[in-house]
Amino acid sequence: RVPEPTVVVIFGASGDLTKRKLLPALFHLEQAGLLPEEFGILGVARRDLTATFADDMKEGILEFGGVKADDDKLGAFMEKVNYHAMNFDDDAGYEKLKQHLDEYDKKHGVKGNRLFYLAVAPEYFSDILHRLGRHGLAKPEHGQVRVIIEKPFGQDLESAKELNAEVNQVLDENQIFRIDHYLGKETVQNILVFRFANGIFEPIWNRNYIDHVQITAAESIGIEGRGPFYEKAGALRDVIQNHMMELLSFICMEPPVSFEADAVRHEKVKVWQAIKPVEILNTVRGQYGPGEVNGKQVKGYREEERVAPDSQTETFAAMKLEIENWRWAGVPIYLRAGKRLAKRATEVTIQFKQPPMLLFRGASSGPCEEIQPNLIKMRIQPDEGISLRFGAKVPSPDMTVCPVDMNFEYAGAFGTSSANGYERLLLDAMLGDATLFAHRDGVEATWALFTPVLEAWAAKKPQGFPNYASGSWGPQCADDLIAKDGRRWHSCKG
Ligand code: BG6
Repeated sequence: RVPEPTVVVIFGASGDLTKRKLLPALFHLEQAGLLPEEFGILGVARRDLTATFADDMKEGILEFGGVKADDDKLGAFMEKVNYHAMNFDDDAGYEKLKQHLDEYDKKHGVKGNRLFYLAVAPEYFSDILHRLGRHGLAKPEHGQVRVIIEKPFGQDLESAKELNAEVNQVLDENQIFRIDHYLGKETVQNILVFRFANGIFEPIWNRNYIDHVQITAAESIGIEGRGPFYEKAGALRDVIQNHMMELLSFICMEPPVSFEADAVRHEKVKVWQAIKPVEILNTVRGQYGPGEVNGKQVKGYREEERVAPDSQTETFAAMKLEIENWRWAGVPIYLRAGKRLAKRATEVTIQFKQPPMLLFRGASSGPCEEIQPNLIKMRIQPDEGISLRFGAKVPSPDMTVCPVDMNFEYAGAFGTSSANGYERLLLDAMLGDATLFAHRDGVEATWALFTPVLEAWAAKKPQGFPNYASGSWGPQCADDLIAKDGRRWHSCKG
């Protein structure tokens, strides 16, 4: 479906996100014929970039969108990109913005439909929204206004509740699109297809057959110059409370009654609410020291720019969660996420229980020595795909078993896609479909779970930071956490 005529107004347009992700994604939509004829993009930021903005965005589309400079749609698309300089706390700027948008409506027949994208630091969210409201931009007389709000949505439960209350003073819930770009990823959406479009997995997707679940979000990059942001965030706030919780909910939710926003979001919230309060003994944190990543020497977190030399911020966290419901009681979910790890790999592993008795044995030595449990591994990125591990008979006169993998690869099956997750979400927001966006209840449920952990961590200084070398798989305590249950982390392919 193609959305109604729309102007996308990006607040914070001078930031990296606009150039690296948003503009390439919007252009991919244009290439796919998914944007309306009457369409515009208006970048808004403090600095006056009027003269250079469109060229800069074009560079981003070429560099990060994998687009060729001679693409025949690019010229006409760039004509639709404009810029408006203003301070976010300047009322006169909002009046001018309103005039600008009204003129745009008249000239391009956009009919008052606006998608505001708040790609700004979270401390500006509420002020910008209130000013949009005061200047008649949040609920105009005609047209649809929708607002995408970037993460982090709050710092803890209290601030998330406050922010939700503020946002709801200006906008109705159906105008708000709290974005988590993981939900835009094909491989994440495919978790639902894997579970609910196939008859053979769902009957065994429960405590009777599953031993435990592991979710890993490993990054080889460091904090990429985002010191001030990361110092306040840390791994738990940056990726666990949002991206990893979204993955967990798709793995663990009940089948929704339909693929409609309320039905899907309702099932997700039920999972988060069923997670038992996290025991601090079941959490560990880490911080990277110097080391070698991809053959290059890199500095430790405390030596990064604009990071305190004695910083206590975690760049790695792992924990065990338990879901108290009929499907999952007694099945631990282990999470780990970190920066500057050995490689980039986001994976979900479902480990199944062993058969009640083992008739066969593994080899006397080598990689087939151990009879391994069945595993379903979902490779979210990179090397996107899904594999099923099972035991096979080694060709020989005896009944030796060796684990083998049945493997599906996206690239082989469907070719590679240049989608970065934002295409789908921007399109859905323009169409008014909030299925793949966070709801206020969901945001509050995940913060309710992690706020006590953050408080307990803040009250107790971490021991021995930095406690893992860049390029490793994280601190020893993460291995100990899972080993105390007689289990181990599965390695990531790729
Ligand atoms: C962002 C975090 O939300 O997600 C970053 O702020 C992190 O720190 C990124 O690197 C990971 O996203 P992706 O799509 O690269 O897995």
